Amino acid sequence: MKQAPKHPVRLERQGNVALIVIENPPVNALGVAVRRGIAAALNAAVAHDKTDAVVIAANGRTFPVGADIREFDMAPQEPSLGQLCNLIERAQKPVVAAIQGTALGGGLELAMAAHYRIAAKSARMGLPEIHLGILPGAGGTQRLPRLIGPELALDMMLTGNQVGAGIAVEMGLIDLVTDNDLRTEAVAYARSVAVTRPTSANRTHLVDGVGYMASVAARREQVTMELGVNALAPHKIVDCVEAALLLPMETGLEVERSAFEDCIASRESEGLRHAFFAERAAAKFPEATEAKPAQVDRVAIVGGGMMGSGIAIAALQSGFTVTLVEQGESGVNAALERIGAYYERSVAKGRLSEAQGAAALTHLQLTNKLDTLGEADLIVEAIAEDFDLKAQMLAEIGALARPDAVIATNTSYLDLAALAEASGRPADIVGLHFFAPAQVNKLVEVGVHDAASAQSVMTAQGFVRALGKTPVRARVHAGFGAGYIGNSILEAYRHAADIMLEDGATPAQIDGAMRSFGFQLGPYQVADLSGLDIAYARRQSKPRDPDARYVEIADKMVEHGWLGQKSKRGYYIYAEGQRQGVPNGDVLKLIAEHRAQKGITPRKFSDRDIRDRILLAIVNAGARLLGEGVAARPSDIDVVMMLGFGYPRSRGGPMMDADATTPSIIASRLSVLEPEEPALWGAAPVLTMLAQERQKFADLNAG
Ligand code: CAA
Repeated sequence: MKQAPKHPVRLERQGNVALIVIENPPVNALGVAVRRGIAAALNAAVAHDKTDAVVIAANGRTFPVGADIREFDMAPQEPSLGQLCNLIERAQKPVVAAIQGTALGGGLELAMAAHYRIAAKSARMGLPEIHLGILPGAGGTQRLPRLIGPELALDMMLTGNQVGAGIAVEMGLIDLVTDNDLRTEAVAYARSVAVTRPTSANRTHLVDGVGYMASVAARREQVTMELGVNALAPHKIVDCVEAALLLPMETGLEVERSAFEDCIASRESEGLRHAFFAERAAAKFPEATEAKPAQVDRVAIVGGGMMGSGIAIAALQSGFTVTLVEQGESGVNAALERIGAYYERSVAKGRLSEAQGAAALTHLQLTNKLDTLGEADLIVEAIAEDFDLKAQMLAEIGALARPDAVIATNTSYLDLAALAEASGRPADIVGLHFFAPAQVNKLVEVGVHDAASAQSVMTAQGFVRALGKTPVRARVHAGFGAGYIGNSILEAYRHAADIMLEDGATPAQIDGAMRSFGFQLGPYQVADLSGLDIAYARRQSKPRDPDARYVEIADKMVEHGWLGQKSKRGYYIYAEGQRQGVPNGDVLKLIAEHRAQKGITPRKFSDRDIRDRILLAIVNAGARLLGEGVAARPSDIDVVMMLGFGYPRSRGGPMMDADATTPSIIASRLSVLEPEEPALWGAAPVLTMLAQERQKFADLNAG
C-alpha cells in the first residue's frame, strides 16, 4: 500500500488570508495525515491575529475526492473527517473552499463544512458513497439538505451523480464559479467575506422539515420498489435526510454517524469496496515495468458485425479516429446502417444532441479496402469466430499494418498463440476480448500469449483504459482455447446448470434461483439472448471431453430451430417485440423425453441447491484458472464475473464470496459432489492448497 506523504498539508499566507494547501497525490484522499494536517493548519491560521479569513485549496489535478477508502478497514484515527468538518464549520474566521477537478464524497463534505465555496468552471461535485455501499458520513447528509434542499440532496446522494460547477451554483451548493485563476479568486473572495459574521450559514439555515415529509416518504417507497427493503445504504440515506429535516444539527449528525457505521460494517459495502479496488488492481499489468502504452490516435477495426460496430462506437465515443473495414459494398452499408441506427437511438433518447451524433460520425471512415490499415496505430480484427478465416485475415493484416502498429484479435475461444503465429508477426498480436454490447460493457479481457511483446500488451491495455473500460489480463498458453477467464468460467457454470436440468430442475427454476441470488438474468435467459446456435457451433467445432458428462438438451433444441430470442422460441417463448418470455412447454416436454431416453429419474433441487452448485462450479473453475496462470489474481476473476457476467457487485465477486464461505468448506463440499461428475467437481489444486493451508483467495491477491 502506498504511504501518504509525511506532510501533505501546508499553511501559506497571502496578506490577511491564510491558505491551507492539501497535497496528497494522486487524488488528495483525506487520510489521517491530511486530516491532522488540515486541523493543525486551521487552528494555527485562526489563532494568528493577522488572519482575517482562510482558504482551503488543493494542489494537483483535483480537490479531495473523499475519505481514504483504504482506511475503512483499519481502527479509526482522530480527527475523524466528521470532527474535522465540525472544526471547520465552527472556525471563528470565515473559511472558503477553493474547488478544482472533482470534489467527491468526503472532499465535498469538507467543502460543505466551509462557510463559502468557490469553484473553477470545469470543477465537478458529487457524493458517490452509495457506490461503495455507504453514505456521506462526515456531516454531508445533514449539510447538503440544508444547502440545496432535501429533494436535490436525495437525488445527489441516491444516484451518486456529479454536477458541474455551473449547475452547482444554481443549486446553491457553491457560492461562486470562476474562469480565472482559482487560487487568486479564492483569496480575493476570502478577503471580501473576511468581515462577515456569523461565519456559518449551514447551521442557521432552517429547512421546512414537515413540508417535505411527503416527498421523503415517496422517495423511501421508490427506493423500496427499485432496490428492495434490504438495500441498506439507500434506505439509510433517506433516514438521514429525514433526520436533517426534523432534528437539530447535532442530533442529525448522531443519526448519520450510527447509519454510517451500520453501512460500513455491511457485507454489501465490503463487496462494493472490494469491487472498487479489484477493478483498479486488474488494470495493473506486469508488463508495465518494461513498456509504457504507445500513443494511439487512429484505430482500425476489421469486421463491422455486431461486435466490430460496437467496438467502433466505443472508440468514437472516446475520441479516436476510426476506420472500419468491411467486405464489399453491402458489408460497408450494413455496418453504416448499424452504427447510424445506434446514433439515431441515442439522439432520440436524449443521450446525445443531434450535433454530437453527427460530429461523432465525422471521425468514422467506412471502407472495403484493407490497404487503409497502414495508417492505423492499433487494429482490431473482429470478423467471424472461425480459426481459418481469422488466421488468413491476421496474415493479411500483418502484411499491411505499420511495423509499430499493434494488432488485436477479438477471438473468444480460438487458440490465440496459433492465431498470432499465423499473422507472421506474433510479437505484435494480442487478444482484445470485448463483451457485447461492446459500446456499453466495461470489461475487456486482454489476451497475452507467450510471444506477445510487452509493448503490444501495454499499448492494448492503454487503449482499453482510454475507452473508459477495465482491462483484465488473461495469460493464455499455446493450445488454450477455452475462452480466457470469463468464458472458461461460463462453461463450468453452464455445465453445472445443464446437469441439474437433465437431472430434474427446469430452466425457469434455475434462472429464478440465480436471479434471486442477484444476477440480472439466469443462464437460460442469457442463452436465449445470445442465440443457441452460436454455442452449438462452438460445441460442434471442438472435440468432446470423454471424461465429462454431455447434456444434449441444447443441441436438440437447435435441431428443432429453437434458437432463443432471435427465433422467438428458446427456453422461453417470446411474443413479438418482447424480451421477457414465458417458459416454453415444448422444451419441458423435450427435456422429459430426453430424461426418459437416458433412463434418468428426475429429482428435486431446491433453489439453494441450485445456487450452491453453480457457485461451487464458478469458484472451482476460477481456482483452476489461477493454477494454470490464466488469471493472475483472484480479484481479476471477481472483476470479470461482475463486469462481464453480472455477478452481483455488492457481493464483490465469486472469489470474495468463496472467502466468506472459506476455501476449506468449499473444498469439502466439492469432495461430496466429486463422484457425481469428477471433471466438474474435482477440486482445483489451488483450492486444495488453500484449504490445507487454511488460507483464503484474498491471500493470493497481493501477487
Ligand atoms: N481513497 C483511497 N484511494 C483512492 C480514492 C479514495 N477515496 N480514490 C481514488 N483512489 C486511488 C485509486 O485506488 C488509485 O490508486 P492506484 O493508482 O494505487 O490504483 C488512484 O487513487 C487513482 O484513482 P483512479 O485510477 O480511479 O483514477 P481516475 O482518474 O480514473 O479516477 C476518481 C479518479 C474519479 C477520483 C476515482 O478514483 C474515484 O471515483 N474515486 C472514489 C471516489 C469516492 O468514492 N469518494 C468517496 C469516498 S467515501 C467517503 O468520502 C465517505 C465519507 O463520507 C467519510
